[in-house]
Amino acid sequence: MSLNEVQGRLALITGASGGIGAACAHQLAANGIHLALTYATNLTAMTELVTDLKSKYSNEGLRVSIHKVDVGSADDIERMFQEIDQEHGHRPDILVSNAGYGKRVPNVWDCTLEEFDYTLQVNLRASFILVKGVVERMKSQRWGRIVFMSSIAAQGGGINGCHYAASKGGLTGMMKNLSTRLAEFNISVNDVAPAMIGDTGMIPNAAAIPEVAAGIPLGRLGTPEETANVVTMLVKTGYMTGQSLLLAGGLK
Ligand SMILES: NC(=O)c1ccc[n+]([C@@H]2O[C@H](COP(=O)([O-])OP(=O)(O)OC[C@H]3O[C@@H](n4cnc5c(N)ncnc54)[C@H](OP(=O)(O)O)[C@@H]3O)[C@@H](O)[C@H]2O)c1
Repeated sequence: MSLNEVQGRLALITGASGGIGAACAHQLAANGIHLALTYATNLTAMTELVTDLKSKYSNEGLRVSIHKVDVGSADDIERMFQEIDQEHGHRPDILVSNAGYGKRVPNVWDCTLEEFDYTLQVNLRASFILVKGVVERMKSQRWGRIVFMSSIAAQGGGINGCHYAASKGGLTGMMKNLSTRLAEFNISVNDVAPAMIGDTGMIPNAAAIPEVAAGIPLGRLGTPEETANVVTMLVKTGYMTGQSLLLAGGLK
């Protein structure tokens, strides 16, 4: 096994047009990892990210592809995998299932069944479909890394409501099961559970959530780069598996 076992691998990062996904793309590229990046609506952010990545890393042979995917659609995900097969010649070695959706509906009596179903479809069902799309290659080469973007909401916290908590808690349960099933193939499965990460579409800045920001023990929001640090650590640390890592400035 090479000393740097991530260099030259291919990572699929969903939601790379958003704050946390873009930060993950920068860090994985800096580690010599090729990228398949998805966006749903924000082509401008996606184009800016790819231009930036290419200017920094194309001399080092970085391959980047972009894919327009609604992760709520199994057909869209299937088409994305066909595009990845064509552009990279194989399925990803690393999956960062990061795309997510969370409408703030704090009270169960205000949350419709449609909102619940849609949130589960985008945040939980998509990760199941994505895992099925990457796991055969990972098994056959006996190397893989899977990271889900969960949330403090999985543990009951957060501000979005029970539909979002259910979707993120489901991710952590699925992660723990997969980690036991896939360990024998040298595939690690973990999640990152952030809270109050600024510079994102979800939380642009502290002013967007004054009632919560004031109560963060560390006295500030987290950053996308700090979240990407944890993802990168998981990608580079195959001995860690089955863990949900809370990144929450001291919030519980
Ligand atoms: N920010 C936080 O404090 C925080 C805390 C806990 C967990 N998270 C999780 O972190 C992840 C990344 O969010 P973020 O904070 O970086 O927010 P963000 O900047 O709003 O990014 C969200 C990303 O998800 C994509 N997305 C949304 N719905 C999608 C769909 N149906 N299909 C495909 N892609 C979709 C967006 O694509 P487009 O923009 O192209 O539409 C965007 O790239 C999410 O899973 C979120 O739940 C964030």
